[in-house]
Amino acid sequence: MPFLQIINLKKRFGEGSAGVNVLNGVDMSVEKGEICAVLGPSGSGKSTLLNLIGGLDRADSGKIVIDGTNIAVLNEKKLSDFRRDFLGFVFQFYNLVPNLTVKENIQLGEYLSKNPLDMDEILAVLGLEEVQNRFPNELSGGQQQRCSIGRALIKNPKLLLCDEPTGALDYKTSKDILALTEKINRNYKTTVIIVTHNREISRMCGKTVNIKDGIVYKTEINTDIVHAEKLEW
Ligand SMILES: Nc1ncnc2c1ncn2[C@@H]1O[C@H](COP(=O)(O)OP(=O)(O)OP(=O)(O)O)[C@@H](O)[C@H]1O
Ligand SMILES: [Mg+2]
Repeated sequence: MPFLQIINLKKRFGEGSAGVNVLNGVDMSVEKGEICAVLGPSGSGKSTLLNLIGGLDRADSGKIVIDGTNIAVLNEKKLSDFRRDFLGFVFQFYNLVPNLTVKENIQLGEYLSKNPLDMDEILAVLGLEEVQNRFPNELSGGQQQRCSIGRALIKNPKLLLCDEPTGALDYKTSKDILALTEKINRNYKTTVIIVTHNREISRMCGKTVNIKDGIVYKTEINTDIVHAEKLEW
């Protein structure tokens, strides 16, 4: 049984004739310790899919089985426990708390976890030691994104979900963030899903799920993984 298995997942927004079918029966799987890319054009349903996997929204039908649990049928309390204990979520636009410092933002993740990673280790891995007492508006985009990765990561999540983690960053910083994601996957055996519209990023992933119009139309297995520093776009 794969670590994550999604079966015939459907999601519609809105009512009646004004409604849109966004996910039309998604099937996909991710193995433990894998980095998986979800690739597709704007509006294809990538963020919707990630939000369902992360338990931030509910599917209309279908299954999302993570490490043996179908999260699609959990009640709110159980779903929230699952999110807290199992998941790290990195948002496209960071979602940092503006009046908390870098360290305090990362502590939000630490307090949620029963077995958090060491704060000093996280600050070191992410290269944030020198800016740990600054506020988000005193940081570059890359530093803000590293802080949001830190907040997700300190929980030592089994599953790390990243929605366009480099979407708002320049080329060099994007590659640094991707290299960091690779390092996290290697060091902590974290299973990672990266949503992106950048095909080049899929070259550092063991699997690429291609999505269009709310359907997975192609799954590619990559046996020739290219390290993040070597990617070019
Ligand atoms: N809460 C919502 N209410 C209504 N429609 C929504 C909602 N969320 C998403 N949609 C619609 O669902 C479709 C898919 O959106 P989604 O955000 O999943 O796309 P995406 O693949 O992540 O796109 P992008 O690459 O631009 O981030 C879009 O047509 C969008 O307008
Ligand atoms: Mg999106």
